[in-house]
Amino acid sequence: MALLDDIRRYWDDDAPTYDNSRQHRPRSPMVDAAWTAALEAVLPPAPAKVLDCGAGTGFLSLLAARLGHRVTAVDLSTGMLDRLRTRADSLGLDLEVVHAPATEPPEGAFDAVMERHLLWTLPDPTAALRAWRSVAPTGRLVLVESLWGEVDGIERLRGGARRQLQRVRRVPPEHHADYEPALRQSLPLGAGTHPGRLAAMVVDAGWRTPRLSRLSDVEWAERCELPLPDRLVGVPPRFVIRAD
Ligand SMILES: C[S@@+](CC[C@H](N)C(=O)[O-])C[C@H]1O[C@@H](n2cnc3c(N)ncnc32)[C@H](O)[C@@H]1O
Repeated sequence: MALLDDIRRYWDDDAPTYDNSRQHRPRSPMVDAAWTAALEAVLPPAPAKVLDCGAGTGFLSLLAARLGHRVTAVDLSTGMLDRLRTRADSLGLDLEVVHAPATEPPEGAFDAVMERHLLWTLPDPTAALRAWRSVAPTGRLVLVESLWGEVDGIERLRGGARRQLQRVRRVPPEHHADYEPALRQSLPLGAGTHPGRLAAMVVDAGWRTPRLSRLSDVEWAERCELPLPDRLVGVPPRFVIRAD
């Protein structure tokens, strides 16, 4: 599929610099501890069999492996997966790495399927959610997301102020390039991953009882690490949708 080839190429090109961003690889023990607690709270008790879709350089996979879970990391990009594997080896963590699209997950059965910041770039997110259901028929879904794009009111103002401050301080962009506008427009969630929309998709895909929780502790830890003017506007709201 040509679209998936374009997406794969983008992430292969992004892989060498992806972890330069603090959003992608926390540098602070406090932020790391907040993410660890947040993930521990939403996953089943360890050791569980956990699938991380769109695992990238291993943000969730490495945390989950450290918590004692048996992790399978799936991604479309070998560039991203190579980095994940290198980091897992350097940390002495054992996990399985699978090169595949998220709509073709390895056979389960998994106790949990998780993702962070993958859904927006899927050509058919509902199909992916359905495929994950089929490999975790009695398992748990954990979507780790941020509020961006389709937001209004105070969050829109905050987002604008955040971007302005980053421009003034010349903070390097989080990625090597932007997605081509036509590519982004073709993606159902390319304009934002609003929690209301995600909860509806989760139910459409056959998961039950979605529960939304905000990751306030992660936001607080991340805010503490920012220089003072940025601290006033904070970080984008982070949230988890969990379903059975
Ligand atoms: C924004 S990154 C998120 C990476 C990681 N989950 C994190 O939180 O840092 C998106 C990841 O999804 C992967 N990806 C994009 N489309 C995919 C697809 N259709 N199937 C599997 N992985 C995909 C990319 O290669 C990239 O590693």
